[in-house]
Amino acid sequence: MQLGQPSRTALSAARGRALHQSSDEPRVFTDALAVPLAEAAENALGNGYDGNDIPDEARLFLAMRHRFAEDALASRASEIEQVVVLGAGLDTFGLRNPYPHIVVYEVDHPDTQTWKRQRVVDAGIVAGPSLRFVAVDFETDALANQLRDSGFDDTVPTFFIWLGVVQYLTANAIDTTLRFIADLRAPAQLVLDYSEPPSALPPQRRALVEMLSEIMTGIGEPWLSLFTGDEIDDKLTDFGFGEIEDLDWQQMIDRFAPGNTAVDQVGGHVLRAAHRGRTFDAVE
Ligand SMILES: C[S@@+](CC[C@H](N)C(=O)[O-])C[C@H]1O[C@@H](n2cnc3c(N)ncnc32)[C@H](O)[C@@H]1O
Repeated sequence: MQLGQPSRTALSAARGRALHQSSDEPRVFTDALAVPLAEAAENALGNGYDGNDIPDEARLFLAMRHRFAEDALASRASEIEQVVVLGAGLDTFGLRNPYPHIVVYEVDHPDTQTWKRQRVVDAGIVAGPSLRFVAVDFETDALANQLRDSGFDDTVPTFFIWLGVVQYLTANAIDTTLRFIADLRAPAQLVLDYSEPPSALPPQRRALVEMLSEIMTGIGEPWLSLFTGDEIDDKLTDFGFGEIEDLDWQQMIDRFAPGNTAVDQVGGHVLRAAHRGRTFDAVE
């Protein structure tokens, strides 16, 4: 990220979700706040709202990953007491949380979060009492301390949403975050997405991904961590996660947009994993 500026990829993701609401048929992911928040963001930058530069397949991927996350949460909502949106960007879940018993912690880099909070006000959206903002730089700050200072309870079941973020983090920051989740004293669910390295993609797709990678480096948000399915599976397993459900592009299409012929470009996956929490045996 460019120091002192909000994440540009957070804005792109917000534009993609907003355009999905109005332009994509059938709609895969419904987000009533996506358009007003994206408009407020564009207006603040003086751009005027126009999401037309977000390619069809990128919008579809965004829609499918958020749908996957919110479906997974919905199916467990009765047992979950906290949701942590890691690297929240302009994600709106915390602003439209439909579960009165769930507290939402929105974690993001301070530069993005400060900017987002002002855009929420600009859009006339009122953050409810169940939402807490927690400013954290995953590379340098102690997520555990910041969350606990904000009231996070590590003894109750928690659902983590970590979308569009791991590729921008170092291996160390990813491991520190996974260790934090694995060390909680209650069960946790985690949804994240990741992209495969060019070497794992069919040869005809590699040039495009390498070009995109250079663009990301140019805007100050380089792709630092890409994984094959086996690599992420091994990492999660090493941290004690299980029940790993990993969907590739075609599996996402089959579930959320059957018949859609959009073609994957970057080897994107979304996955869910569960952790039982640190047991007393492990603590002693
Ligand atoms: C592509 S955006 C995704 C935002 C959001 N999750 C979404 O799906 O729209 C990447 C997000 O990661 C956050 N991020 C990147 N590096 C970070 C870091 N070192 N610490 C905290 N957040 C970071 C950015 O601020 C940004 O919100």
